[in-house]
Amino acid sequence: MVAVAILAAGRGTRMKSDLPKVLHSLGGRSLVERVLDSCHLLNPERQIVIIGYQGNKIEQALDSRSKVEFVEQKEQLGTGHAVQQLLPCLEGFSGDLLVVNGDAPLLRPETLQQLVQTHQQNQNAATLLTAHLPNPQGYGRVFCAGDNLVNQIIEDRDCSPAQKQNHRVNAGIYCFNWQKLAEVLPKLSTNNDQKEYYLTEVVDYLTPVMAVDVEDYLEISGINDRQQLANAYDILQARIKNNWMKAGVTMINPDSITIDETVKLQPDVIIEPQTHLRGNTEIGGGSRIGPGSLIENSQIGENVTVQYSVVSDAEVLSDSRIGPYAHLRGQAVVGENCRVGNFVELKKTTIGNKTNVAHLSYLGDATLGGCVNVGAGTITANYDGVRKHQTTIGDRTKTGANSVMVAPITLGEDVTVAAGSVVTRDVPDDCLVISRSRQREIEGWRMRSE
Ligand code: UD1
Ligand code: CA
Repeated sequence: MVAVAILAAGRGTRMKSDLPKVLHSLGGRSLVERVLDSCHLLNPERQIVIIGYQGNKIEQALDSRSKVEFVEQKEQLGTGHAVQQLLPCLEGFSGDLLVVNGDAPLLRPETLQQLVQTHQQNQNAATLLTAHLPNPQGYGRVFCAGDNLVNQIIEDRDCSPAQKQNHRVNAGIYCFNWQKLAEVLPKLSTNNDQKEYYLTEVVDYLTPVMAVDVEDYLEISGINDRQQLANAYDILQARIKNNWMKAGVTMINPDSITIDETVKLQPDVIIEPQTHLRGNTEIGGGSRIGPGSLIENSQIGENVTVQYSVVSDAEVLSDSRIGPYAHLRGQAVVGENCRVGNFVELKKTTIGNKTNVAHLSYLGDATLGGCVNVGAGTITANYDGVRKHQTTIGDRTKTGANSVMVAPITLGEDVTVAAGSVVTRDVPDDCLVISRSRQREIEGWRMRSE
């Protein structure tokens, strides 16, 4: 049985922000959400967030997570004082307590699981995550007898120059036997440089306390300022991209690419430079995305190409070509083997298989059949100033260059629209429709000269 407590009462002064530190966003999720999510493999019995500075904002932000409980630390007198606030609400709890700093968003669920397993197998009083950092500045140093039995943790600012030579640091992630911790929490002093109650002091009263080294020290990176927040984003991105490359995705110049954790890619996807994949996006095998594209909450089929384009909330079926410079949005659906080309915008529009919209068009609130050819500059006039209206175009119809469909309107199958037409009435199947003024030639006409 495991309870999780997340320390999130501090203000995070070094962020220089109105927002509490743990609510800053990292790749679409706040720090505290990330920490909560990293605990999911533990199936925690309780999830407690210790709040203080702007606690109501944190409660609001976690509103949708009904299992999360909040405990208030009215004054922020240190990490030990924060954990002391759990004494009433965990009274009688007989399991283990995982304590995680709210500013450590890069932890892997497997790392926490391993920490708890080691703790339980060895029946430790406490087990803590440690790392050997090239630059340990700012972190508490962990002093062990032998390999991993912890004697003492000394904060950076309380270390002597000799003690600072120890590069083994406290990650701020601990698993405790709660009953044993509860007994010693009242003993904490403020006998340190900051005159705070340090959670790390409990190590002096508990035995055995074991240290577990984290494999990849980047995982324990704490966020204290905006620079560390930006670095954490890069670490997260590197992790996501390396995983996709291992899974068979090609990336050209990965440093210029960003991918949300929620994105799903098939093997043999190729991602070109300056491309950003966000939200609930899926891309099928053989598709080539980029250069210079943004795909957001969209489903892309197999063997699709997307160049210099923005695709959001859209679906593109296999073998279609999008771009350069296309914009698909608002539930646009592009069928198989289509072409949506230069400077074309599709909004809430479905186009059937083998339909081409190659140049300079706006299609909004429209449904097009298959094998339609939309001429350059064709526009659906879908908005009358008050409401949006539908355009429907049947299979194999061709619209001429610079034609306007004034919606609501339906064109049948095999219709040909003459260039420059403004079509205002429905058109049945197999017609040529011309709706423009007839051309006249006035013979012998010249501009009058003075
Ligand atoms: C802490 C550890 C240090 C460790 C480091 C890892 C202590 C005394 N030191 O230092 O050994 O190397 O984390 O990142 O624990 N918080 C509260 N209430 C408080 C004070 C802090 O909830 O009264 C919360 C903060 O919001 C934050 C977390 O605890 O999420 C850590 O606090 P912080 O001040 O960043 O601790 P560090 O100085 O980094
Ligand atoms: Ca910190």
